[in-house]
Formats: sequence, C-alpha cells, structure tokens
Amino acid sequence: MGKQLTPQGLSGVSPPCSALLVPEKWLRTAWACQRRRAISRSVLCGVMLFAIGLVSLFTGQIAADLEWSRIRGRWRSKRAGYNTPTDIWKSEFANLYHGCSDRSPHLRDAVHDSESNGYLLIATSGGLNQQRTGITDAVVVARILNATLVVPELDHYSFWKDDSDFADIFDVDWFINSLSKDVTVVKRIPDKVMRSMDKPPYTMRVPRKSTPGYYLQQVLPILLRRRAVQLTKFDYRLTNKLDEELQKLRCRVNYHALRFTKPIKLIGRNLVKRMRTMSSRYIAVHLRFEPDMLAFSGCYFGGGDRERNELGEIRKRWATLPDMSAEVERSRGKCPLTPQEVGLMLRALGFVNNTYLYVASGEIYGGEATLQPLKDLFPNFYTKEMLSGNDLKPFLPFSSRLAAIDYIVCNESDVFATNNNGNMAKILAGHRRYMGHKRTIRPNAKKLSSLFKAWKQMEWEMFSRKVNLELEETKRCYITQRLKVETSGDESSSMHLSG
Ligand SMILES: *[C@@H]1O[C@H](CO)[C@@H](O)[C@H](O)[C@H]1NC(C)=O
Ligand SMILES: *[C@@H]1O[C@H](CO)[C@@H](O)[C@H](O)[C@H]1NC(C)=O
Ligand SMILES: *[C@@H]1O[C@H](CO)[C@@H](O)[C@H](O)[C@H]1NC(C)=O
Repeated sequence: MGKQLTPQGLSGVSPPCSALLVPEKWLRTAWACQRRRAISRSVLCGVMLFAIGLVSLFTGQIAADLEWSRIRGRWRSKRAGYNTPTDIWKSEFANLYHGCSDRSPHLRDAVHDSESNGYLLIATSGGLNQQRTGITDAVVVARILNATLVVPELDHYSFWKDDSDFADIFDVDWFINSLSKDVTVVKRIPDKVMRSMDKPPYTMRVPRKSTPGYYLQQVLPILLRRRAVQLTKFDYRLTNKLDEELQKLRCRVNYHALRFTKPIKLIGRNLVKRMRTMSSRYIAVHLRFEPDMLAFSGCYFGGGDRERNELGEIRKRWATLPDMSAEVERSRGKCPLTPQEVGLMLRALGFVNNTYLYVASGEIYGGEATLQPLKDLFPNFYTKEMLSGNDLKPFLPFSSRLAAIDYIVCNESDVFATNNNGNMAKILAGHRRYMGHKRTIRPNAKKLSSLFKAWKQMEWEMFSRKVNLELEETKRCYITQRLKVETSGDESSSMHLSG
C-alpha cells in the first residue's frame, strides 16, 4: 500500500522524536497556537482525530489502524493518482506544522537572583551544535533547580579547538533578556558572592539525559550547601520525558534565545543572498567525510588499497576498535553516504542537474577527487569559501564561527540534505521543522546501501523509482510510529496529521 503514495515531501525521514534535536513532538503540542493560526478545516479534522485518539486510549490498536487508513485515504483523495508531479522542493506537512513554544500565562516567573538556590555554572562540550544542546538543557536545568544560570562556558579543547567564547558566537544580551521571564541569567557570579564563598564552586558531571528528579536529588543539595555548582562536559544532559512547559522552554532557548552575533549573521545572510541571486532556490548539503570519521566507521568507500592503508593507519588510534567487515557495516547502514551517493540520491529524487547546491563540509577525505562526481552531477556547486573570498578571513581561525555561518545558510535553504546523523544534521532538521516545516532529507543509509551497490547495473528510471520508494517506505513507517506515540499517550492534539 505504501507504493501508492507519492514520493513527495520526505521531510522527516528520521525516527520520530528521537532526541531533543528533533522536536516534532513539541510541534504537535501546539494546540493553543494552532487554533489561533490554522484554517478552520484543519482544526476540525484535528478535533476529529483527537477524538479518535481519545477513543484509542481504550481501544488501542484498532483506533490506530483506523486513523492510519483515514490518513491514507486522505492522501489518496488529495493526490487523485500518484502520477501527478509533486513539488520536490516542499514538505507536504508545511501547512500542518508550525513551531509553538509560547509560555503558558500561568507559568511562574523566574526566581530572582537574590532568592535563587545558587549559581549554576556550565561547561559545555563538543562542537558548536553539541554545545548548543548543552546550552539549551542548561537553561532548563537552572529553571528546575531555581538556580541563577551563569552564561555557559564554551568548550575550547574539543576536537574542533576553538577559542571563541559564548559572546563571540551568540548575542549574549539578547540571550539574557529574552529568557528573563523563565530563568535569571547573569554573565558572572557577582564579586560579593564570590568573596563570601569559602570554597570554589563544586564541580561535577551528570549522566546524559538525566531526569529532573536526578537534578533535584543529586545537584540541588550541593547547590544549596555550596552556593555554586559547575556541571562539566555538559551537552544532552536532560531527558526528553519532561513536562510540556519545560519542553517548550527548550524550544524558546534553542530557536529564539540563541541568536548568532551580528558579524556572523551578516556574512551568513550575505551568502544566502548570493545563492539566491544566482537561483531562486537552492539545496544545502551538509557533508561529513573527514578521514578520521571514515576510519572510525570501518567502512570501505571504493578507494582501493591506498584507502585501506590510509584509513587503517588512522584506525589504529583507537586501540579497542574491533575488526569489522566493511560489507557488513555498509549493509547495517553504518557508512556515511559518499558525496557521489548524495548526488545520485538527489538526482534520483528528481532534482535536475542545474540545481544550485550549497555544500557545507569540513575536510573531505580524498579532497577534490572525492567531490568531483558530485560536481559532475550538480555543476552549480558552491561553498562558503567560493562565495565569500576575503570576507571569510576573520572567521577562518574559528571553527565554531565557520560552523555558525554554515548553519545560517543551511537553515535558510529550500531543501536541506545530509549524509550523516550528527548534531548539526539533527539540530537543523529540528530548526527547519520548527520554522515552517521546510524539506529536510536525511537518508537511511541502511535502506539505500543495496541500491548504491547495484545502481550501475540498473536503468536510471528503475534506480530513481527505487530510491523514491525506499525513502517513501521510511516516511510511512515514520508516520505510523508517530501515530502510535500519539494514540497511546496522554498527549492531546493529533491534528498535525490531518488535512
Ligand atoms: C522553586 O520556586 C518555586 C516558586 O517559588 C517553588 O514552588 C519550588 O518548589 C522551587 N523549587 C525548588 C527546587 O527550589
Ligand atoms: C544538464 O544536462 C543536460 C543534458 O541532459 C546538458 O545539456 C546540460 O548542459 C546540463 N546542465 C549543466 C548545468 O550541466
Ligand atoms: C532560520 O530560517 C528561518 C526562516 O525559514 C528564519 O526565520 C530564522 O531566523 C532562521 N534562523 C537562523 C538562526 O538563521
């Protein structure tokens, strides 16, 4: 039955709600906002689906199936035949979803500095986007603890080594002011308080995805005793099983309070403008193909003995890595798509060869030679280096600022595609959903691996159809899963699937 669906709008080929970074879950908590903005028809459908959802609390699977067939029926009737050309540039959910993180009017205000339980210091960890997750969770943890948050410290020692501080990347005053209703944020612990503390702040590390209860039991007593606690290696440290208001706060931090500084915004917007003067639409592709990442994956990318030797050499860095079969890893979907495979996938999805590509990437293993097949498929190939020349110079020593520039151009693109499932891919997928559900393509490497192995032996039409079907299949499964989540929980609105 999935075959009858058209391959349009593969906007979310990721598993649903898998992480804080993929906030589909929060989009559908948008009942109140939705009512304000949506067309009455979809509200109506939403109410109906909601009712079915309620019923399904009691009848379980039956209702889920019912809903599923309703939706399927809707698609069928809407598309009157699956041969109609569909808009590959758009997500079909764009009219149904939108971000909503408005604060409930009943939410209590931030605890003032003078009444707070102490100061929460945060040392984030990882590259720009991993740190962004940490900053987001830090604000929510401060709220849970009734603590005053000190502007987080960025990681200067990660793999990406960047000396930038928070204020070099994010607009710090905007951050403090826009969160003032939720959490009190200060730039540093006041001197008076510092002098009154007999010991330096207590330093500890909390496990990933900890619950609010964990923070209240393990961190709060120390905070109260010592007045300041520093949490280190901080990134994704708060569970997704959170009160809805706290989830919305996460959205307010991630999508509203974190704004890049002016110089970064300026150059980012300039790049977007340059892309748009050449073409009204463009695809942004985030490629990760660094040598150590490839070596770590244990995969083989077709570079012969030379590649085997080079990657094997790098692989020795991790003494504990087991010997793996490259074939098996590939069929398990553990190998990032090569630039050529990304190009083939996009062409197979229907993007023609004169489409403009903006490619965001770090070092590419094999350099130009690895990129050439992608450039052959899409000759209109651009990077920030090609577009900005000397304007980029001041940013070059700072990997996080460069990542921020790519973030802006990828966020603004009409379509965003990645070959990996890293932090940037996840956080951008979330951001794009939140800002109007723009199309994002995150290929399922496992499903595509057998196709890429055989594509040369296939007619192009056949290959194209199969790529579309694989992605379609992923989407269908994604939607069924979402239905299960929605009809089995206490969460109210299922309306985003309507229409
Ligand atoms: C935080 O403050 C609110 C309101 O003053 C209070 O109800 C809550 O129990 C406090 N929580 C903690 C952990 O201090
Ligand atoms: C795209 O492909 C056509 C042939 O199918 C070719 O004539 C044209 O030059 C190509 N365009 C670009 C930008 O390479
Ligand atoms: C992301 O794109 C949306 C428009 O789609 C825009 O409103 C928002 O400001 C952008 N955010 C960043 C950080 O570029």
